[in-house]
Amino acid sequence: MRKPVIAGNWKMYKLLSEAVDTALRLKPLVANANHCEIVIAPVFTALKTVADRLEGSNIKVASQDCAAQNEFGAHTGEVAPVMLKDVGCSYAIIGHSERRQIYGETDASVNAKTKAALSADLKAIVCVGEHLSEREAGSANSVVETQLNKGLEGLTVDDMERIIIAYEPVWAIGTGKTATPEQAQEMHGHIRQTVAKTHGDAVAKDVRILYGGSVKPDNIAELMSQEDVDGALVGGASLEADSFAKIVNFEK
Ligand code: 13P
Repeated sequence: MRKPVIAGNWKMYKLLSEAVDTALRLKPLVANANHCEIVIAPVFTALKTVADRLEGSNIKVASQDCAAQNEFGAHTGEVAPVMLKDVGCSYAIIGHSERRQIYGETDASVNAKTKAALSADLKAIVCVGEHLSEREAGSANSVVETQLNKGLEGLTVDDMERIIIAYEPVWAIGTGKTATPEQAQEMHGHIRQTVAKTHGDAVAKDVRILYGGSVKPDNIAELMSQEDVDGALVGGASLEADSFAKIVNFEK
């Protein structure tokens, strides 16, 4: 059984006080949700305070990125995974499409960051997804396959236990255009087959694959009803505690 993961990516929103306020509002609303792992990803500057305030709760904290190096060194502006672990993170989101698009993240950097995150004992939420033009050209499957093959290259079967894949079609992010449950299922099935080819059937069967892109309280149940959809990476609808809690509690 794959335990679902519902993760909220807060992107570059919320001052520290607002992040703490949302986290504390969320806590009681999801206190009884044991059917899934609950993760929130505030900005770097809020990570420690939010993680401290959530200690002992069922909500875990993720960073939205990390450095590709764990050794201290001359990397101005970077934050090492070991430092994220040190302030209470359990997960790191890696290779989000906004980082690929705006900040030049490549499959090679995603691979290096993923390995660094794992070596600091973080779980890595590795993001993949095609652009609209790629989907329209019929190359969505091959684009995502390449992202996976390169992004997860060199990871062992043991490493894969701490990998979560997030499929986020770029055309569905922040647009209100969700992939249909069928489109999500089709790609998630393809992702699982791709992982089976590189890491074997057992790994593919166990790896959690999240869907991201305009997930809302009113479409989560339908998306989660798909066989290969194991959770969600939520942007806009995770910013308010109430709507994120509704997504977490979708079964109820
Ligand atoms: P939205 O839910 O706002 O579309 O964002 C999705 C996303 O990018 C999560 O990482």
